[in-house]
Amino acid sequence: MSQTRAYAITAEAVAKERARTGGDLTQVDVTRIIALDTLELREVGPTDVKLKVLAVSAEHNIEHAALADTVNIAETRGGKMYPGNSALGEVIEIGAQVKRVKVGDIVATHCNGEPDKYGYPLRIWAYDQPDSIGWYSEEAVVGEWQVIKVPLDCGLSIWEMAALPLRAPTAYHLWRRGIGIYRLKVSNERQAVLNVLSFGGGVGELFLMIAKAEGHNAYFCSGSPERRESLEKLGIKGIDQKAFNRFKTKDDVKAFGKKCKELTSGENFHIVCDMLRGPVFDAGLSVAARCGVNVSAGWQLSQVVTYNTTIQSVKQVTIDHTHYETPEGCAAATELYGRVWKPSIHKEIYSFEDVPRCFKDMRENTQTGIPIIRVAKTLPASVAKIS
Ligand SMILES: NC(=O)c1ccc[n+]([C@@H]2O[C@H](COP(=O)([O-])OP(=O)(O)OC[C@H]3O[C@@H](n4cnc5c(N)ncnc54)[C@H](OP(=O)(O)O)[C@@H]3O)[C@@H](O)[C@H]2O)c1
Repeated sequence: MSQTRAYAITAEAVAKERARTGGDLTQVDVTRIIALDTLELREVGPTDVKLKVLAVSAEHNIEHAALADTVNIAETRGGKMYPGNSALGEVIEIGAQVKRVKVGDIVATHCNGEPDKYGYPLRIWAYDQPDSIGWYSEEAVVGEWQVIKVPLDCGLSIWEMAALPLRAPTAYHLWRRGIGIYRLKVSNERQAVLNVLSFGGGVGELFLMIAKAEGHNAYFCSGSPERRESLEKLGIKGIDQKAFNRFKTKDDVKAFGKKCKELTSGENFHIVCDMLRGPVFDAGLSVAARCGVNVSAGWQLSQVVTYNTTIQSVKQVTIDHTHYETPEGCAAATELYGRVWKPSIHKEIYSFEDVPRCFKDMRENTQTGIPIIRVAKTLPASVAKIS
């Protein structure tokens, strides 16, 4: 057994911060909840892989765990959990039966905690999968099935690659669902080039990258000029969400609708990705084209939505809910690193000690791209040249 430094979230810290803020989630300071701890790693079993964690990306499920806004997951997990379900690591030890990776390989982890009979996750690793230990740690022991070799020569830096283990499979899955459902209704011969819209955020921008790579018109409605600019370089057109007051009123949604009609010559959007819900859902649904598809795997602004079913029936619109990819889908998404996924990352690479501050910045929405945390002080030679 060996020990490693790892971040933890305790139910006690969540409760203490709830009491301090009187239950007002907008006042919660996540730096009081996410804390550095020591973790005892399990022995490396025959099908296990030991990793030196190189870099991780900050993900919203940690915020959900700290806020306990969806469920009080730290409490459900017995009072303490080790979060972190997106990591890039160097293989430093393998079990006797491990075949797919060897010592020295650089791998990404996926967070499908327990595939159902179709491969989709019943639970998410380091969140609701019982006994799962996350990777905001200096070392980790995982099953061989949880790691995927990354294409080091894909043209991305190690930090850009670290943005992708969770977000790219999510975007990949959203896209194959969105396009699959649309094609069930409208064939290629009838409508070859689609108008695709997504709202701000890492998953949303990756979703548009695959739509663009497959030849469609892609639009990114975001409040961040830096993110819009970085997507414009890939031919993905920006729409300033703040010009529509982030859809605070019906008039804002109407004005957005008018703008979308102008941009698409009256056609509107065949596929819309909305990871946020809340007012973004209403805006996204209002600009669906006939036979359009609205996909989402997130509920950052609200978990509940309402809509007029008659209008959606008449327009033949499908609203689809997804979660995360199958392990095979995660491997397919990893093949597209650099070819399709060219993520915008936040300008500061946070240090391991800065994890709580990184989440505070994420909550305040001040980051200019996907936030990355460098965990390893020294990098292996294979990646030092792309750091
Ligand atoms: N099911 C899954 O497997 C899965 C996987 C990944 C993520 N998710 C969920 O999906 C959501 C987004 O994830 P992400 O990784 O894409 O997040 P992200 O990269 O942090 O992006 C979130 C974006 O939301 C936008 N935003 C923030 N506050 C807003 C507000 N008040 N109104 C409108 N937009 C606002 C911001 O974009 P702009 O400022 O640029 O507009 C921000 O960049 C989260 O809820 C996350 O938990 C689910």
